[in-house]
Amino acid sequence: MSEDIAAQYRIEAEPYYRAVGSEVELFRAAHARRMPVMLKGPTGCGKTRFVEHMAYTLGRPLITVACNEDMTASDLVGRYLLDREGTKWHDGPLTVAARIGAICYLDEVVEARQDTVVVIHPLTDHRRVLPLDKKGELLHAHDDFQLVISYNPGYQSLMKDLKQSTKQRFGALSFDYPDAGVEAEIIARETGCDLKVAEKLVQIAHRARNLRGHGLDEGISTRLLVYAGQMIAEGIDPAHACQMTLVTPLTDDPDMRETLEAAVATFFTS
Ligand SMILES: Nc1ncnc2c1ncn2[C@@H]1O[C@H](COP(=O)(O)OP(=O)(O)OP(=O)(O)O)[C@@H](O)[C@H]1O
Ligand SMILES: [Mg+2]
Repeated sequence: MSEDIAAQYRIEAEPYYRAVGSEVELFRAAHARRMPVMLKGPTGCGKTRFVEHMAYTLGRPLITVACNEDMTASDLVGRYLLDREGTKWHDGPLTVAARIGAICYLDEVVEARQDTVVVIHPLTDHRRVLPLDKKGELLHAHDDFQLVISYNPGYQSLMKDLKQSTKQRFGALSFDYPDAGVEAEIIARETGCDLKVAEKLVQIAHRARNLRGHGLDEGISTRLLVYAGQMIAEGIDPAHACQMTLVTPLTDDPDMRETLEAAVATFFTS
């Protein structure tokens, strides 16, 4: 039964991940001790891809939960639901992961309310248990269970931050956009666009990233560069591709747009 469930969450083919530092080695060691791990970094820099790659290479199922402020502890843990035969308990994703020994990836965990986040506390210390209060069960996590959370320090405000008692249950890995050469290699490999074109895309991104905090909340992510590369590989004119993927999504501010368009025009003319 739990094998069937685990099969659903297995990653079939190896997700491409280009290591940029010692993150693979560090994650492996943390996984060996089932240490909870936090992945910090801006949007679109490779956190999700990394966790997918690690789950695949470690041979673990991966259960991902996108957190949001409306999420309750029951959404993670489970609840009784009414069906034709009466009320039946349904495990939430965190409970499923703890039962089958999956890696549970809570994406953007700062978005969840603190009373939701605290349900992970007993799972992320030496106890490794999850109390299912409503069901009257104390679930002991499977030996292979590991919790991974992500968060983007850029968005965090004073109101939205993790409590120290949550933060200090995790080892943390810092992610950022890779060095120019590596990022270009990733874009070329992901999209099939020319390496020379990928290098130009990265230079445009560097200009936008320098505007972070000076009119832009976030710079152009690796994800957007991948989109640009995909459009170009589809035969779209690079300047148009950049407008659609690197300029328009990023900002509504006319001055900022103009600045970004000028950066694009330095490298690609339409
Ligand atoms: N090191 C890398 N190796 C391979 N691909 C990468 C790498 N870094 C980024 N990418 C590419 O960038 C895309 C976006 O990365 P990903 O979805 O992992 O970002 P993220 O950090 O999880 O962002 P968010 O915080 O918005 O969820 C991936 O789909 C992949 O194409
Ligand atoms: Mg992600």
